[in-house]
Amino acid sequence: MRSRKDMIHQASPNLALIKYWGKMDHRLNLPMNASLSVPLGDFWTRVSIWKSHEDGWKGDLSRFTLDAKERILTFFALVRSQYPELPPVAGTCQSNFPPGCGIASSAAFYAALSAAVLDVINIREPSVIARVARLGSGSATRSVHPNGWTAWLPGGTYDSVGYILEDCVLPVNWYDYALVFDIKHKKIPSREGHRMMDESPIRDSRIKNANRRFLEACHAIQKTDWETLCKIVHEETLEFTGMLQGHSQMRDYHNAQSQEALSKLNTLFTTQPHLKPWTYTIDAGSTVHVLGEEAVVENVISLLKSKPVETLTSRIYGGLLRVRSLTEPDMVLY
Ligand code: DP6
Repeated sequence: MRSRKDMIHQASPNLALIKYWGKMDHRLNLPMNASLSVPLGDFWTRVSIWKSHEDGWKGDLSRFTLDAKERILTFFALVRSQYPELPPVAGTCQSNFPPGCGIASSAAFYAALSAAVLDVINIREPSVIARVARLGSGSATRSVHPNGWTAWLPGGTYDSVGYILEDCVLPVNWYDYALVFDIKHKKIPSREGHRMMDESPIRDSRIKNANRRFLEACHAIQKTDWETLCKIVHEETLEFTGMLQGHSQMRDYHNAQSQEALSKLNTLFTTQPHLKPWTYTIDAGSTVHVLGEEAVVENVISLLKSKPVETLTSRIYGGLLRVRSLTEPDMVLY
């Protein structure tokens, strides 16, 4: 006889090429600008949820997310306030990459968690999972889809969710090399970083630039014009890092080694046009992502002076999976 503990939901972090940074509504996680991401399918978080006598969590959460157990229990209560039929539940999870250092662990965690919790009450529509995941962590709304470019439009309503760009292919021969320059959890959670954008003097121009780049990037993706896309991402990375490094607190997201790597990557990108296609980005953490065709990325990385503590790689593919049991081959893509 199978128990619900055999049911596993697996989600992967997504890497934003146009960043969600700053909100219109902090409680509902409604973004101030459009964002765009690719899935990193070789990294995953797996969550199991089962009915229990009271809400609970089994295992050490700090290995998967920066959020404490209380926050997960609050999240269960939030889902129940919308779906009163949700019984008391408990859960556990596993992950194959470190949290809180610049690979979107909370996106993978809340995407898998939302899918698993809603599955208890037989809700499996991706748009509902995407909305509930967004309430856990905004970027999680871009981790609930199978295999594709995921976009998320600014502001809007309670129903705002990430969606797949239809008829657009991922560069599946690309790799993301995540150069981890600091394995420790970041000191300022993203939630607080987003708030710092409320008072930013460049908030309006940031919204305008990110939305413009989002549209340009979608256009390049439709034409599979990877070279143009790489240039747009480079421009976005310069603005995002400038924004963080020009702020008295947000500059702590990037340590000296990651800043040195970013500066060298900028030089390589602008002075070595024969190396292509590749590009680079960074989130709110000291992990620098270099992505493109494997041989090109390897070459670029070999030219860097700063040596990462760890290098993790993923292909650009993958999405949410619902798995009966890891020993069975019937993984079902949503
Ligand atoms: C820099 O989704 O972690 O990774 O909604 O407050 O949980 P909350 O923030 P979060 O922010 C992610 C910020 C980012 C850029 C991105 O993923 O778009």
